[in-house]
Amino acid sequence: LAEGPLTGRRVLVTSGPTHEPIDPVRYIANRSSGAQGTAIARALAVMGADVVFVTGPADAERPEGVHVVEVQTAAEMLQAVQAVLPVDAAVFAAAVADWRVASASDSKIKKDKGQIPSMEFAENPDILATVSQMTEGRPRLVVGFAAETDDVIANATAKRLRKGCDWIVANDVSPETGIMGGSENAVTLITEDGAESWPRMGKDEVAHQLAVRIAAALG
Ligand code: C5P
Repeated sequence: LAEGPLTGRRVLVTSGPTHEPIDPVRYIANRSSGAQGTAIARALAVMGADVVFVTGPADAERPEGVHVVEVQTAAEMLQAVQAVLPVDAAVFAAAVADWRVASASDSKIKKDKGQIPSMEFAENPDILATVSQMTEGRPRLVVGFAAETDDVIANATAKRLRKGCDWIVANDVSPETGIMGGSENAVTLITEDGAESWPRMGKDEVAHQLAVRIAAALG
């Protein structure tokens, strides 16, 4: 481990999409690349933190010098997160599926007799809200993300209060920004003191700046 301002701090980062099974060969997913979460885990490790990286099935290369926990579903991600606690800080960068198929099939659903299957969905646990609202053993700093396409600051400010986290890193994921799946990000950091918009920069630089802020907050 590198020595730095986060030496001795234990930090959790969630990242990537989740995959929610339909049957053994099919699943519901989203387009999260895991790039920003991976960059954050790497930046925290470079600053000396003991990082646990809980990731869904993302394309991004796994960061070095961190403890990696691979999961598939939102339910598995929540379990993995609970097993990692307590931590000093937690950053929830994962794009967790909001819904899962209520009863995934144990065997492959056959395409036959012109029958088109229909699916019922069930709500997934909200991992960020669950951890933010813990009454015992809550991390001192809980950071959530908000991917918005309009009214970014207003929506993210409301989200911070609704979830109960300390900070929200908000970004505009409108297709014309090229942020989703791209290498740059333009974020607004929402804290109890208000909204602070950062200039557009590389996802690695956003990660570094966020790690600096986390180190300052943990003291
Ligand atoms: O509005 P939304 O629920 O998408 O908020 C996004 C934030 O909440 C992200 O930090 C994401 O990692 C977290 N989240 C979560 N569990 C969910 C849904 C979102 O941790 N089931």
